[in-house]
Amino acid sequence: MDFVEQLKSSVDIVKVVGDYVRLRKLGNSYKGLCPFHNERTPSFNVHSVQQYYKCFGCGKGGDLIKFVMEIENVPFYEALTMLAERNGIPMPKRSDYSDPESKLRESLFSAQEIALKHFRQNLHSNNGTHARSYLKNRGLDGALAAEFSLGLSTRSGNALCCLLQQQGFSADQIVESGLALRRDDGGLYDRFRGRLMFPIHNESGKVIGFGGRALEPGDEPKYLNSPATKLYDKSRTLYNLHRARQAARNTDRIVLVEGYMDVIGVWAAGVKEVVATCGTALTNSQVRIMRKYSGRIVLNFDPDTAGVNATEKSIQMLLEENMHIRIVELPEGLDPDEYVQKHGAASYQEQLDRAGNYFFWLADRARSRFDLNVAEGRIAALQFLLPSIQKIPDKMERAAVVSDVAAYLKLDAGLLLEQFRKAATNREQIRLDKPRYDLPSAEKMLVHALVQSAQARRQILEELAALPHFQQLSGKHIFESILAIERSGVPFRYGELEARLTEEENTLMAKLAFADDTEEENIIVKQAMACLEELKQRASRERIEALKTEIAAVERSGDMARALALMQELKRLQARRSDY
Ligand code: UTP
Ligand code: MN
Repeated sequence: MDFVEQLKSSVDIVKVVGDYVRLRKLGNSYKGLCPFHNERTPSFNVHSVQQYYKCFGCGKGGDLIKFVMEIENVPFYEALTMLAERNGIPMPKRSDYSDPESKLRESLFSAQEIALKHFRQNLHSNNGTHARSYLKNRGLDGALAAEFSLGLSTRSGNALCCLLQQQGFSADQIVESGLALRRDDGGLYDRFRGRLMFPIHNESGKVIGFGGRALEPGDEPKYLNSPATKLYDKSRTLYNLHRARQAARNTDRIVLVEGYMDVIGVWAAGVKEVVATCGTALTNSQVRIMRKYSGRIVLNFDPDTAGVNATEKSIQMLLEENMHIRIVELPEGLDPDEYVQKHGAASYQEQLDRAGNYFFWLADRARSRFDLNVAEGRIAALQFLLPSIQKIPDKMERAAVVSDVAAYLKLDAGLLLEQFRKAATNREQIRLDKPRYDLPSAEKMLVHALVQSAQARRQILEELAALPHFQQLSGKHIFESILAIERSGVPFRYGELEARLTEEENTLMAKLAFADDTEEENIIVKQAMACLEELKQRASRERIEALKTEIAAVERSGDMARALALMQELKRLQARRSDY
């Protein structure tokens, strides 16, 4: 058996998904809140027999490996490796699954690992005395530094390059790893020199790059980061996510801060669900990644101008993805790390718990920016606030926010509502629903049985395809696809079928596949046989009507021989029908 098949048959998708999503059993399928979009009522289904998942809210669906790829944000080969490792299944040695691209990624991963080890050794060597005391001064003890795998890059030009070359990495690979740069003369030198090193991990905990902080006040830039590589895409990375994600799920909250040091400070204060962007504005991909763990976010950026602007932009970005947002603005111009150092863990936690809805923060911004004593100021404030109100998806919540804000800013609620309604009608265009693809109930039941039961496929498919009006059946293409898989001799799998169907067929199919199916196989087959019979009868009923019309026409034309033949066929059909 092919390794992918082996993996799929020995690892239960229900168990794998269950590690990420709280599932409730309903017959052969399980239901839960979709990890890929924000929802309040569960539309995410996992089918234990089909080993398949599907969300009717956002449409995501697939098999075990697809699930791991999506939820861990990793490519195919890495999803395989993760599943194999977690389940103690040995990966084939010289794997056919590792294409050149995957092999390159593997080697880049191991370069990052070597660098990590090298940096950590430096920090603990004699050359690390200064860096260690820097950490200590910033309240970061040895245990915390070890927990975050902090390290130190050497001052000299190419210690890491030499190490990597010794370990057999080519110059090209070393440059691609982002750890070194090429001089004009072609020689290599280390990108990071004399910096405190913060390893950056991907969602599943592998090192993909580094941020390096200057240790001397004059050194520029303050932080130097790995460039974009095959492994590291900063727009899709959140610092500390691999450590924070479990806590984020448990507490149903994510705290987003600006810097590496902030993450470590907040973590040390006992708030484990903390992540940071890596020196960029928050991106849409980052929001989607966070949302897998929690839809509730607390923003705690620096209280300087840059931080305030970043907060405003992030709010819009988060609202687009329906996140629930609260804002912390720390006093005395302190960033989260400084606040924890100065006021302690308990006080910081209190700040988090007290964090207000983003709306009050925005209202404060409006108040400080516009003069609410004059009409123009009030209108300008409204225009500033309106886009964010409009993005609140829930009608009731939206209305509540409108009246809260009006009261908070002492604005005329009527004026606010009127402005708001105007904007809302522009936004909510009338959508005409397309008629949905559906099947008559007999065909639906047949499809259900054919997917569920091998016996049903054996007993029914060929006969179904031989029906005289097969071409006219609404589900013809689905039946043909199932038949094609059966005839090809490969084992029937839901994913195989999905690949052959159109999107609307798949939506319908998934609904059927996840319908309650606790019946025994022989009952399913019996029901299917009855449906087939019904289709046959329908066929003969239609044929009888057609024959009657044709006979009348033939008689009129005087072709008595033909009329007689048709009449005989009609008699045969009618006799067979009266047998039922
Ligand atoms: P800050 O300047 O707020 O630094 O940058 P910080 O995190 O508080 O660090 P300390 O306390 O001074 O040591 C916030 C984040 O912005 C990115 C880094 O990710 C940093 O953690 N940044 C900042 C850079 O990428 N490059 C820079 O030159 C500065
Ligand atoms: Mn700081």
